[in-house]
Amino acid sequence: MRPWPSGRVAFGGDYNPEQWPREVWLEDMELMRRAGVSFVTLGVFSWSWLEPAKGEYEFAWLDDVMGLLHENEIAVDLATATATPPPWLSAAHPELLPVDRQGHTLWPGSRQTWCPSSVTYRDYALALTTQLAQRYHDHPALAMWHVSNEYGCHNIPCYCDRCGAGFRRWLEQRYGSVDALNEAWGTAFWSQRYTAWDQVLPPRLTTTFANPTHELDYRRYQSDVLLDFFRAEKAVLTELSPGVPVTTNFMTLRHFDKLDYHQWAADQDVVSTDHYIVNTLQHPRAELAFSGDLTRGLAGGRPWLLMEHSTSAVNWQPVNPAKDPGQTLRDSLAHVARGADTVGFFQWRQSRSGSEKFHSALVPHAGADSARFREVCELGAVAARLGEVCGSRVEADVAILWDYQARWAASGPAMPSSLLDYAAVPHTLHRLLRERGITADVVHPSADLAGYRLVVVPTLYLVTDEDAGSIAAAAHAGAQVVVTFFSGISTQDDHVRLGGYPGAFRDLLGLRVEELFPLMPQAQVAVGDGWGTLWSEDVTAVDCEVLETYTSGPLAGRPAVTRRATGEGAAWYLSTLLDDEALGGLLDRVTAAAQVTAPAQVPSRVEVTRRSGQNGSWLFLVNDSGDPQQVAVTGYDLVSDGRVGPTVKLAPGAVAVVREE
Ligand code: GAL
Repeated sequence: MRPWPSGRVAFGGDYNPEQWPREVWLEDMELMRRAGVSFVTLGVFSWSWLEPAKGEYEFAWLDDVMGLLHENEIAVDLATATATPPPWLSAAHPELLPVDRQGHTLWPGSRQTWCPSSVTYRDYALALTTQLAQRYHDHPALAMWHVSNEYGCHNIPCYCDRCGAGFRRWLEQRYGSVDALNEAWGTAFWSQRYTAWDQVLPPRLTTTFANPTHELDYRRYQSDVLLDFFRAEKAVLTELSPGVPVTTNFMTLRHFDKLDYHQWAADQDVVSTDHYIVNTLQHPRAELAFSGDLTRGLAGGRPWLLMEHSTSAVNWQPVNPAKDPGQTLRDSLAHVARGADTVGFFQWRQSRSGSEKFHSALVPHAGADSARFREVCELGAVAARLGEVCGSRVEADVAILWDYQARWAASGPAMPSSLLDYAAVPHTLHRLLRERGITADVVHPSADLAGYRLVVVPTLYLVTDEDAGSIAAAAHAGAQVVVTFFSGISTQDDHVRLGGYPGAFRDLLGLRVEELFPLMPQAQVAVGDGWGTLWSEDVTAVDCEVLETYTSGPLAGRPAVTRRATGEGAAWYLSTLLDDEALGGLLDRVTAAAQVTAPAQVPSRVEVTRRSGQNGSWLFLVNDSGDPQQVAVTGYDLVSDGRVGPTVKLAPGAVAVVREE
């Protein structure tokens, strides 16, 4: 077995040789060497090539590819190839096709067309996984197993009868009795009381709003059933291919919320993720940084793998602009700055046919004689120089709490405002901290908060008593805790905590909210010198200091921002979404109180993080501005491969990774 490439940031991507004749494979090897590729993810969508008919396996081509990669010293992240069934399988078992909320079957012809609860699909997938593990477990090129691909990206939620049956089994395990289910789901409302398990269905298309806890539990079920699937594949690999790390690629992008990755992370031998720049976002680079900090949070602070990103355009957005010269390097290192030790891409060679023929790749349609491929080679050279950084940790004194289940509940049916997007507030706070050079770990509310000086609790609508308790304990022990509006509202069954909002945090914050006042689109309320949008609340200060009040609108004169000292720390409350300037000003106060500072003084559009380890520390500087910038630092810049100091100059869009002296 080949160890995961070390002594360098591993660099490579998805390799799909079945799309090309053999002579191209030889050119691939030559070009991979030229580019400094050190790993590939192989066979993600190869099932129909590996098993062209039931139980008839064709591994000769894969043997050849594995052999070639080994000869060329390229490590293989070998896929179990179970992401998409071959046509013969769906033709023989149409019952494994997923069904949407309206009851429409999703037909073969694309990818990931399988029902997450299908035992038939699982059996076939495990059979293929077994074959692959038996054949390649001791192959010298094998360095990692890549189970399936981006679980849940397209095939959940599925509302078919098999999912219905699986959901009932899951509910029985969770609740034990129909009465307990009725209690948890609040079925006294709208005559929804169940008297037998078989009356419970997936939350299919209904006349009007569905029961929110029914919806919430269905999301939990769909995430769990896929996690079971992953575990079943992993168990085969662990048994037949011991010692080889196993991963599946997450999607920690802002828009993906179908799986509870906090539940999944512990089962990964190494956490890996995919990230693509969404160009319709207002702050795409801040979103990239959030994704990295969330992935690191999922990895428990350990280094992680960026399994996929793109050298240039994707092909799945309405308009797909190419990346600027230098952006591939900048994007890649922006992930390394947040803890990635591997930089992978989709895909090695741009397809000439199929749905992704206009998606960029390491080798573009233009071929190796292209600016893009020359950039790829430069990136490979930089990745090779960054080896000393691998294994080091990103320093962060701030935790931002993030919970997929709170997100699911907050985006349930019939909420106070459909304008509230769970991701918006954590992303905004993270962006403003990043603009101040402050790095945050994005972690689950149940994470150990002991080491953080500042804990940010954005729109944590649903929270357990236990997690609310540990957040309060963090404040008591000395952290500055910032809670924002619409937090602490409900229990894990999504039952509102009575007696005034924000239920779970009322005592910690020393205040009470009797009514929520969400704001109409475009509406603003004056708060001190700034403006609040989206949301406001009628806050009564019980045992807290009022920092800002509303000065316009129906809540004029009422508290908007408060602070309560508790133990060694303090708990701050923000009942509206302040504009960037006012919110930034508040963060300046909070970070000063927490004594949290940036690792270096940088101009506002230079991103800064520090990784440190046993053999040193490295300052990552990413110039996100269109102007040249400079930062005071002395050391060795691994990107330009030379000494710098007392300042480093950064051209527009340039990156420096300075080993500090
Ligand atoms: C990912 C997927 C890849 C490819 C890529 C395109 O979601 O894993 O197979 O489709 O997106 O951006």
